[in-house]
Amino acid sequence: MHSKTEKIQKEYARLAQKYDEHWRVYLEATHKHAMEMLEPEKSDRILDASAGTGLLAGMIRRQVPCELSLIDISDEMLSVARNRLANDPFTRIRKMDVHALDYPDAYFSKIVCLNSFHFYENPEKVLSEFSRVLKKSGKLVMVAWCRDPWHFRLFDVAMRITQRPYAGSHTSAELQRLLKVSGFTVSKSRRWSHRFWSLLNIQAEK
Ligand SMILES: C[S@@+](CC[C@H](N)C(=O)[O-])C[C@H]1O[C@@H](n2cnc3c(N)ncnc32)[C@H](O)[C@@H]1O
Repeated sequence: MHSKTEKIQKEYARLAQKYDEHWRVYLEATHKHAMEMLEPEKSDRILDASAGTGLLAGMIRRQVPCELSLIDISDEMLSVARNRLANDPFTRIRKMDVHALDYPDAYFSKIVCLNSFHFYENPEKVLSEFSRVLKKSGKLVMVAWCRDPWHFRLFDVAMRITQRPYAGSHTSAELQRLLKVSGFTVSKSRRWSHRFWSLLNIQAEK
């Protein structure tokens, strides 16, 4: 297996049990933004790409009974998600890498990618996979780390030098360009901050 993937898996095996509580305030803020853009409906079939502990799925589930697919490469994060969503007949949870989605073309009405894009080694490949499995006029929602402000550029460099399990964050212009190349039309792009964190809300349609 690829060593970067192993690094991510090791990190989240260590963090999984304390993840929700440790990052509670940050997660509440980012999940609120994702839910506002996602607007889940009963008729939706939603992919949570890199779903982690299934926090977002829990929020969607409390709001509306739609079809949910959760994927992640961490067994330990998915195990927390499985406990959270036990007995939910509309939710499927699978271990899967976002670079190679095991779903048919045009399968989902919405895809959400939350707090995870900076881990992906080949963002172009991931976005082309998102585009492939998303229906025409389907919606992609992202909340991603954003390298626009100088302090986050420095942070990005530090993360690369220290070889944390991290591939790199993007500027808002870079992310918009990547989405355009993958056939998406960006309908919303808004940068915001949560304490130290610089984030970008993106809504794009295929
Ligand atoms: C910061 S957590 C975010 C989890 C969740 N979306 C949230 O906001 O709470 C990042 C997640 O991305 C997952 N991840 C990283 N690279 C991945 C990949 N290539 N395919 C699928 N999941 C990946 C990690 O295992 C981890 O669970």
